[in-house]
Amino acid sequence: MENPAFLTAPQAIFPALRAKGALPLGTRGVLLTRSADIAALLTNPAVFSSGVATTQTGTERPLIPLQIDPPRHRDYRKILDPLFSPQRMKQMEGPITELARGLVDTIAAEREVDFVDRFSVRFPSQVFLSLLGLPLDQLPTFLEFKDGFIRPEAITGQPRGHEDSVALLKKTATAIYEYFDAVIADRRASPGDDIVSRFLETEVDGARLSHEDILDICFLFLVAGLDTVSASLDCMMLHLALHPERRQSLVDNPALIPGAVEELLRWESPVMMVARFATQDTEIAGCPVSKGQVVTGLLGSANTDEEEIPDPDVVRFDREPNRHIAFGRGPHRCLGSHLARLELRIALREWLARIPDYRVPEGFEPTFTTTIRSLVALPLQLGQSA
Ligand code: HEM
Repeated sequence: MENPAFLTAPQAIFPALRAKGALPLGTRGVLLTRSADIAALLTNPAVFSSGVATTQTGTERPLIPLQIDPPRHRDYRKILDPLFSPQRMKQMEGPITELARGLVDTIAAEREVDFVDRFSVRFPSQVFLSLLGLPLDQLPTFLEFKDGFIRPEAITGQPRGHEDSVALLKKTATAIYEYFDAVIADRRASPGDDIVSRFLETEVDGARLSHEDILDICFLFLVAGLDTVSASLDCMMLHLALHPERRQSLVDNPALIPGAVEELLRWESPVMMVARFATQDTEIAGCPVSKGQVVTGLLGSANTDEEEIPDPDVVRFDREPNRHIAFGRGPHRCLGSHLARLELRIALREWLARIPDYRVPEGFEPTFTTTIRSLVALPLQLGQSA
C-alpha cells in the first residue's frame, strides 16, 4: 500500500491482489480484496465491530453513528435516515447550485487554477455550512477544524503519533466540541430551518437525540462529509481531464451526469478502505483473525471485481445496474450518500456548463493523499486555447 501507484492507479493493482485472496498484514491485521469477502465483513457487525477506542481517535466519545454497533446503531439511523433522504436532500438543490455557481464564477475567466484550492476543498465545506445554517464567513474556521483533526501531521510536519500532532488533534477536537456546543445552544434558543434544529425536534418511537448525541453527530459530519466529497471531485475532474472524449460526452449530454457520477465513484472509489475490529477469534476468507485485530476491506477492489461487476475495467457512464459499494455496505452504509450525489452532480453540471474545456499541464504528475484519494493539487488550464 506504500507503492505510489496504489494511490494513482490502484485499478491496475487490484486484480493481482484479488488473485491472492485475503492478505495477512502482520500487526496491521488482514486486508480483504474480493467483493464477497468485503460484503461478509461489512454485514456481520457482531463479529466485525465498528467500535474504536477513543484513545485512538482523539475524541471524547465515539462518533455517532459510525463507531456505534447495532442494535444501538439502528436507533440512531432510524432518526437520521429520514433527515438525509433523497427527498429532503432535493430541497437543497437550489442553495447547493447557487454555491457551485458562485465558485465557478470566480474561476471561469481565469487561464489556470488549482482546482483543489479554488473548488474541491471549498465547495463541500460551504454546503455543510449551509446545511447547518451558518454564514459562509465561517469557512476558514471549518477548514482549520477539518485539517487539524483529519490531517494534523500535514500541519505540524510531524508523523501522526508524534506528540505535536497528537496535541494538535486534541486541541482541534476540543475546539470542535466547543464550537458545536454553542451552535446547538443557539438553535435550542432560536430554532431555524437547519439540520441542527431538525436534530433537536425529531422524535422517533418516543426517542430523541441528546445534546451529546448531536455533538457527536456534528463532529462526525465534519470528518465524514467534507474530505470525501473533495476527494471524489478531485478524482472525477482529473479523470475527465485525462479522458476528453468522456468529458465531451457529458458536455453534449448533461443527462449522462448522474450515471457518470456513479461510474466514477465505482472506478475511482475515493474512499479506499473501511476497517472493522474482530470481537472474537474468528476467520474470514480462510484467514485466521484474532480478537481485537483489524480487518480492512478495499472498496475499490470490490468495485472492480468481475465476480460482481460485468466488464469492470470498462468505464461506462450508462452502466446499469451499477452495484458499486463506494458508499460502503451493510448497516453503516453512508448516511450522506444522497447529499454527496447531489453535490457531485451539481458540481459537474455547473462546472461543465461554464468550463467545458480544460486540461492538466503537460507533464503533470498527480500526488494523492492516502486512505481518501484527494489530490494535493490539481492545476487545470482552462479554455480552448489551453
Ligand atoms: C462521495 C462522498 C462520500 C463517500 C465516497 C462516502 C463514503 C462513505 C463510506 C464508505 C462509509 C462507510 C464507512 C464504514 O462502513 O465504516 C460512509 C459512512 C458515513 N458517511 Fe459517507 N461518504 C461520502 C459523503 C458523505 C457526506 C456528504 C456525509 C454527510 C452527511 C457523509 C456522512 C456519513 C456518515 C454519517 C457515515 C456513517 C454512517 C453509519 O455509520 O451508519 N458521507 N461514507
